[in-house]
Amino acid sequence: MTNQAIKPLVFEGITAVDPAADEAARREFRRCLGQFATGVTVMTTMTPDSARVGMTVNSFNSLSLDPPLILWSIANTTPAFQCFQPQDPFAVNVLASGQETWARQMARSGADKFQDISVLDGRRGIPLLHGCVAYLECDVWARYPGGDHDIIVGHVKRMLNTGKDPLLFHNGAFRSF
Ligand SMILES: Cc1cc2nc3c(=O)[nH]c(=O)nc-3n(C[C@H](O)[C@H](O)[C@H](O)COP(=O)(O)O)c2cc1C
Repeated sequence: MTNQAIKPLVFEGITAVDPAADEAARREFRRCLGQFATGVTVMTTMTPDSARVGMTVNSFNSLSLDPPLILWSIANTTPAFQCFQPQDPFAVNVLASGQETWARQMARSGADKFQDISVLDGRRGIPLLHGCVAYLECDVWARYPGGDHDIIVGHVKRMLNTGKDPLLFHNGAFRSF
């Protein structure tokens, strides 16, 4: 490889930029990632002293069919970063259309996130949010560092699919089909 300068990429009048170039580029990186439409999940688990933990997550994805694995990423700034350790079971709650209020509540720091949220008793006591599209009850299979997040790989031990319509997230906004 020669040490040539990279040719600029311009498409439809827009110039490609390095996402780490400056503060404006870092903001644009978030907007660019936000163009990837996703579903919305809430990850639930318990602390060692049985306090309920929940957080809204859209980095969820499928990973492997055999063995059955899923993955998602957790920011190292969130208090829940200490949870989801190899000994901690957790559940993926795939939110249904109409559960936007719960998605917002589960993304808010501080207050009791479970206030006014009805839950079912899941595997090993992990709370499951009532009325979701699907539930994936997991053990932590692996955890890897990834910049300012950790990647958590879950081994799915039990699942339930209600077939409801999902809640969607795109460009910073909740949506439905
Ligand atoms: C739609 C949406 C998706 C989110 N996805 C993630 C995610 O994938 N990983 C993550 O660490 N935080 C994600 N968050 C932010 C967390 O939900 C939020 O930081 C956390 O719940 C704050 O509560 P805590 O301070 O009690 O941890 C997301 C928030 C929203 C609204």
